[in-house]
Amino acid sequence: MGDKRISDNIEQALNDQMNNEAAQAQAYLALGVWAEANNYTGIADFFYKHSEEERQHMFKFLEYINTRGGTAKIGAIAAPADNPTNLKECIEDVWQHELENSKKIYALVDQAMAERDWATFNFLQWFVKEQIEEEALIDGLRDKFALASEDKANNANFYSLDRDMQGASQEGELPRQAEL
Ligand SMILES: [Fe+2]
Ligand SMILES: [Fe+2]
Repeated sequence: MGDKRISDNIEQALNDQMNNEAAQAQAYLALGVWAEANNYTGIADFFYKHSEEERQHMFKFLEYINTRGGTAKIGAIAAPADNPTNLKECIEDVWQHELENSKKIYALVDQAMAERDWATFNFLQWFVKEQIEEEALIDGLRDKFALASEDKANNANFYSLDRDMQGASQEGELPRQAEL
């Protein structure tokens, strides 16, 4: 890869975020398992696929660090938080996760700008844009949950929420499609 073309501080920060993305992938995987166990099949699909998207984010950081002559260091991933007690809590947890992740991306952008590391600054713009999409996606989910839960007498609303989730645009494969 030749000489390293990122500073030690940037390399460390990129590695930290690479591992954050891996932790996000694990967190969504755990929520997928929780949703499937609770028969929220569409929501489970959404989380499983989103877990794969987060894993792709991890790969992007890994590849960028290597391309700049740095060393991607795969660290330990903290266990996901305890299972939510209900769907509302689940969705709000995910919302907070994404907001926190956006802040981490912005802090990286600040750091790249402070160091005048324009290559890293440019690389990070993809993630700034991605977080706009992710925040919108999860915020939309919060809105749908609010709509579906207003009429508590009619649980059929949860079925339509679940169906909406199944059709929400996501990439990645589902565990249940794997050959056993
Ligand atoms: Fe991500
Ligand atoms: Fe995300």
